[in-house]
Amino acid sequence: MAQRISGAYRLITIPSIYKGLMFSLGADRAMSRYVNDVLQPKAGMKMLDVGCGPANVLAYLPPIDYTGIDLNEKHIAYAREVYGDRGRFIVGNVAHGLKQEERAFHLINVSGVLHHLGDDEAAALFRSLKPLLKDDGKLITLDPVWLSGQHTIAKLFNWLDSGMNIRTQEGTLDC
Ligand SMILES: C[S@@+](CC[C@H](N)C(=O)[O-])C[C@H]1O[C@@H](n2cnc3c(N)ncnc32)[C@H](O)[C@@H]1O
Repeated sequence: MAQRISGAYRLITIPSIYKGLMFSLGADRAMSRYVNDVLQPKAGMKMLDVGCGPANVLAYLPPIDYTGIDLNEKHIAYAREVYGDRGRFIVGNVAHGLKQEERAFHLINVSGVLHHLGDDEAAALFRSLKPLLKDDGKLITLDPVWLSGQHTIAKLFNWLDSGMNIRTQEGTLDC
């Protein structure tokens, strides 16, 4: 993984701090728009949330069969405490942890994860996720990106992000 984890960056591995930071940056409004306009989940769907963190997205979802997976056990413990039986929360690497779930999911969400991964890791992640999707299932990603003419504040947030692989709009992955 290509990310900063020392000094102040260690703080965002703590769920309550991560959640507070996201809230202060207006991520709650952005998440609500992302869910309603892009993910468009329907009640009863089976959804996998890869790199779910503290599972913030659950606050915006209808009743849904939700599975969140994350490498960080503190985020998963927090998600279990806050959301209890609203979902299944797994500590693990999605590339290894969900083999038995073949073609199970209507929707796979990968938000805020790719910019922590190098190209090879990101391509391997997509390859491991493809067999988990139903034939008509959708995989949707959301990540920061570098744009020409981007507002200085947006650039500043990108510079400060712990993920070290923020891509350009033209960036492509060979999966
Ligand atoms: C910036 S957080 C995003 C959290 C959440 N998706 C959101 O949008 O708020 C990225 C998370 O991805 C997790 N992660 C990265 N690669 C992963 C992998 N291969 N399997 C599971 N979790 C992963 C990290 O532990 C981290 O909690």
